[in-house]
Amino acid sequence: MSPSPQTPWTLPEPAVLESLRAALLHWYDDAGRVLPWRKEQDPYRIWISEIMLQQTQVKTVLSYYDRWLQAFPTLETLAQADLQQVLKLWEGLGYYSRARNLHRAAQQVMAEHQGIFPQQLEQVLSLPGIGRTTAGGILSAAFNQPISILDGNVKRIFARLTTLPKPPGKAQKQLWQLSDAMVDRENPRDFNQALMDLGATICTPRAPKCDRCPWMSHCLAYQTRTPTYWPMRETPPVRPHKTIGVAVIWNHQGQLLIDRRLDKGLLGGLWEFPGGKLEPGETLPECIKREIQEELAIDIEVGDHLITIDHAYTHFRVTLNVYNCRYCSGTPQAIECQEIRWVTLEELDQFPFPKANLKIIQALRDRGVPQLGG
Ligand code: ADE
Repeated sequence: MSPSPQTPWTLPEPAVLESLRAALLHWYDDAGRVLPWRKEQDPYRIWISEIMLQQTQVKTVLSYYDRWLQAFPTLETLAQADLQQVLKLWEGLGYYSRARNLHRAAQQVMAEHQGIFPQQLEQVLSLPGIGRTTAGGILSAAFNQPISILDGNVKRIFARLTTLPKPPGKAQKQLWQLSDAMVDRENPRDFNQALMDLGATICTPRAPKCDRCPWMSHCLAYQTRTPTYWPMRETPPVRPHKTIGVAVIWNHQGQLLIDRRLDKGLLGGLWEFPGGKLEPGETLPECIKREIQEELAIDIEVGDHLITIDHAYTHFRVTLNVYNCRYCSGTPQAIECQEIRWVTLEELDQFPFPKANLKIIQALRDRGVPQLGG
């Protein structure tokens, strides 16, 4: 059954908005989560937390947040840091453009705002990696400014509260209007944090705890007993799949070859084991030999299969077929990457790798240096 709304979608009446605000703030006093960034009013620290939390759950962020602030306690230390160290601290969190943007934005704040994080919405929005909801999160938490937010959790809450008759992606304007109308002018700091907590702990995607919700009596999804029907779904995009051949190339000294990707794209600037896409009609060993010749201009012999890894990125899925290989001849050239290095198994830890590659490193550690003929 798909419930069809009886009346056209409108913003709640002012008196209802007031009652919603009061109920949410009251609930937050009792049930809000105690999180390290909520003790802070330093915009730098709040900004770091908001960027880490963009696509990542609180429980994952906690340890990264502490380590980051120990390494870069101030905006100035981040601006002056080496990008490789920044990426290393981000290793495993995913969406690495977030780390590159933090680094660039810190340098922009040094250059344009004397190192002081700006308080004007337009100036905050001009920093790389900061969109409207992150700007609202930072400015409300750091300076108690009444600026609204609209992340995935908040969209879900509002879609249920109002039985929004479209998928959220097609109702951005109405959702922002609602968030703007809703934000508490007296206490926007707590209000926005409370909204985030409501989405994370009560109004959850699959099994919302409606019996504990401060908005139960106003929620149209609850009243129509359809909470999990909302938000309406978009038809999911088809995610293309790529089969990749990956080479772990060993030289005669027991070192292996890694390369650093070009700065552009999803995993830009990170290190990886070289390889590339399987072409129609090729076997995996043929693909690997060809890719390594094209990308690094060296000749290798492809040996035993090491591991196969399936990994899903946002817009595509990959299967990495990893083979141990023996270096034969030629001097490696950085043709389609930024740099290449021969490293030992122990040294691999010093380089930031994408998550799927960490499984390759673990497999190498488990098996040790292979016996390759020749
Ligand atoms: N997600 C985004 N910002 C957050 C915050 N300040 N607290 C908890 N979860 C969040």
